[in-house]
Amino acid sequence: MSEIKRMLQARNWMKSNENFLTTWHAHVGYKLNLFEHFTESKTVQEVAEKYDLDETLLERWIEVGLEVGHLKKKISGKIKSKKKMVKYASANSDESVGILLREMMELHIPTLLEYPNLIESKKRITYLEDKFADVVAETSTLLEKAAVTPILKRIKQNNPASIIDLGCGYGGYLKSIQSNFPDIQLQGVELNKDVARMASSRLGDQVDVYEGDLIDYIEKFSGKVDMVMAHNLLYYFPKEDRENLFKNIAGVLNKKGTVTFITPVMGATHGQTFATAFNSFMTAHENLYPLPTMNELKQDGKAAGFKVTSTKPLIREGSWYLVTLKKVK
Ligand SMILES: C[S@@+](CC[C@H](N)C(=O)[O-])C[C@H]1O[C@@H](n2cnc3c(N)ncnc32)[C@H](O)[C@@H]1O
Repeated sequence: MSEIKRMLQARNWMKSNENFLTTWHAHVGYKLNLFEHFTESKTVQEVAEKYDLDETLLERWIEVGLEVGHLKKKISGKIKSKKKMVKYASANSDESVGILLREMMELHIPTLLEYPNLIESKKRITYLEDKFADVVAETSTLLEKAAVTPILKRIKQNNPASIIDLGCGYGGYLKSIQSNFPDIQLQGVELNKDVARMASSRLGDQVDVYEGDLIDYIEKFSGKVDMVMAHNLLYYFPKEDRENLFKNIAGVLNKKGTVTFITPVMGATHGQTFATAFNSFMTAHENLYPLPTMNELKQDGKAAGFKVTSTKPLIREGSWYLVTLKKVK
């Protein structure tokens, strides 16, 4: 009996791993642009020859793709990608979400696989900022779709004359604000040079993008700014420094100024599977830091003279929230 139970357990683990194989398959396809290569029906040999790829391994990848439903086989035996894979998992597609596959498979999963070593050695790994800055900035833009409308709504309510975006990434929020509210004075700060330059070229001359550390930059604007955005930024700051970060932001803002944070939070009602795994990823690095709880955000805000005016879930599956605070002192 216990042998049967063991076998059933093993079978369950195999079954639950199928989702991972789907992601693996999509990631390989995205990386090598294979879904696009098979947009039109092609034989394995045709694609292998044209793009100088290993035919046997390509054949194996195709077998998995047929099983997980990413590819289909025509009566002729030729292979064709499903339309949604060409659309969402090809680098050249405007609607691609492949960058998320890259972040998960090249950054998150390898880190999580290091966990046994890290727990035993009591060590941390270093997050390679330069290597992943572009991937991370681009993945963050996927969240914009959910966040930009509520951000624009808050701008309409508060009517700021000036906004600084801290850790602005590729500047997607600034871009949307620029086209909806052309009279607002906008600035971005971005630590990573390549990312900052990309933001600058997307935003044009009207928006200043400062390349460097936000702490050095914001000092200059004491009491002069109406709104600050700090989106997907908190995990770059240790818990014990966050109160200071809030105080620095408060220092930049005018009386009654507003700050918006976008962040996954720990301990929320929804999406904790993803949030706890994300938190494990952060904690594995010596230069990334655990996610805040909503209570910590409120407390740090209060200590810096803010009051939380709204907490809006953006992506429930990941416990991602938009938290808005207003200066009350
Ligand atoms: C995860 S990305 C988010 C980008 C954007 N805010 C968004 O939500 O789409 C965070 C960005 O903050 C930048 N960053 C981290 N620490 C910073 C600091 N101390 N000063 C300025 N930028 C910083 C990183 O280089 C990265 O591009």
